[in-house]
Amino acid sequence: MLRGIVFFVDSHARSKITVFDTTLRDGEQTPGISFTFDQKIEIARQLSSIGVHCIEAGFPASSRTEYDAVKAIAGMGLEAKVCGLARSRKEDVDACLECGVGLVHVFIPTSDVQRIHTINKSREEVLAITQEIVSYVRDHSPECMFSAMDATRTDWDYLVEVFQTAASAGATILNVPDTVGVITPSAMKVLIRRVASSVDAAIDVHCHNDFGLAVANTLAAVESGASQVQVTINGLGERAGNADLAQTVMAVESIYGISTGIKKERLVETSRLVSRYSGIAVLPTQPIVGDNAFAHESGIHSHGVIACSSTFEPGIMTPEMVGHRRRLTLGKHVGRHAVRQMLKDVHLAPTDLQLDHIVEKVKYIAGKGKRVTDGDLYEIAGSVMGIEHETQMIVLEDLAVMTGNHIIPTASVRARIEGQEHTFACTGNGPVDAAIKAILKLAPERVHLKEFHIEAVSGGSDAIGHVNISVEDEKGCTFDASASGDDVVLASAEAMVNAINLLHRIRGKDQ
Ligand code: KIV
Ligand code: ZN
Repeated sequence: MLRGIVFFVDSHARSKITVFDTTLRDGEQTPGISFTFDQKIEIARQLSSIGVHCIEAGFPASSRTEYDAVKAIAGMGLEAKVCGLARSRKEDVDACLECGVGLVHVFIPTSDVQRIHTINKSREEVLAITQEIVSYVRDHSPECMFSAMDATRTDWDYLVEVFQTAASAGATILNVPDTVGVITPSAMKVLIRRVASSVDAAIDVHCHNDFGLAVANTLAAVESGASQVQVTINGLGERAGNADLAQTVMAVESIYGISTGIKKERLVETSRLVSRYSGIAVLPTQPIVGDNAFAHESGIHSHGVIACSSTFEPGIMTPEMVGHRRRLTLGKHVGRHAVRQMLKDVHLAPTDLQLDHIVEKVKYIAGKGKRVTDGDLYEIAGSVMGIEHETQMIVLEDLAVMTGNHIIPTASVRARIEGQEHTFACTGNGPVDAAIKAILKLAPERVHLKEFHIEAVSGGSDAIGHVNISVEDEKGCTFDASASGDDVVLASAEAMVNAINLLHRIRGKDQ
């Protein structure tokens, strides 16, 4: 049963697409990324729990640590199938088999440029190796995935011959890699059709993003009958990366109406986990999972979205569907409707005239290039509306931080929480981290720091530091707050206290 808005699906498209995730193999080949053993285990568990059909856990023959990680993942009893990568060498296949993977993925370069310059074999030799290695895998395993590396730059007549050889030797899945990301969607459609009509095996596609076309090429392959897509979380992978899982899955499901079995409402959470472990931040503008994917600033857009969310969102994909949230943001393009709505959310109802003044002030501050936080908005609204300053839940009384090159940075705070004195101490990676962690202990609700930005307002070592932070509560609601001062540790602590007080104020009003 097709769901969503189906703009166009070629008659060759399948009714179900399986997802093969290679975050732990191609994704780990991203320059600068090296997951720890424990991180690999946790990522594998997450991928399986969100419904990934097959996880490429690594390349066991490449190192002992890789071997150990693949073996451990294969032994976890995951719902997802676990795959190991192997060059077309028996010792590589043996390493995969020893790890106990459910699928061995063998590859060999087939384009002239790679064949000559990487393995120095003739076309005939590559055909013979293909025949031999696939047969070897099948002698030991019920399944075999075969990849013709650099397929898209291979002479297509020869490519078909290679795939026919692999299929007749027993390959159960044929992978068509666009190894250097050079094909276009229209050419991909023709290529997949040609391969699919020449061999009797499932077709899978692996696209790199060198020209930013990885997802588009993957979708073109789906339109032509590929039944499996190779993707990574956050599009990690060699050079410009691979097709992004979230983007591919959402397009396949919401635009084509084809099911993938992925738990879409866990896409944002999965992206954040991998971003944290890989150390590679997700751009705010990244589709589906980026912070701005469902954020609206301009007056026209915010007004439209407040009236009906699909005015300026796809509609067939909502923030809730992917585990995200809709956000109205404050900036120089903000409009009255958005500001009124944001104030209404905290039970503030300015008159029309007061609203005009509030909007004017927000635009004035934003126009000077300064970020306007939720905390700033409530301060502005409070002063325009003449609301008495409410008593703050937390009042920071003392902050002491010890740091140096031979001691673990430690912060201790003394604060009044609803009138009662409390003290907490915490260690951290640095003085700011220690101070923030100590302040977080003051929060009665579970909150975590989502973003932290610090900028020097003036030059020089005595510059005023301006700290902007975002905290998130367990419901996924975020609150922005800021503080400035010549001591950046103190400014960071004050920004955190402001955020927690804000959260408390809003929560209190909700009850
Ligand atoms: O990009 C590529 O061709 C690969 C193969 C190993 C499938 O990653
Ligand atoms: Zn690749």
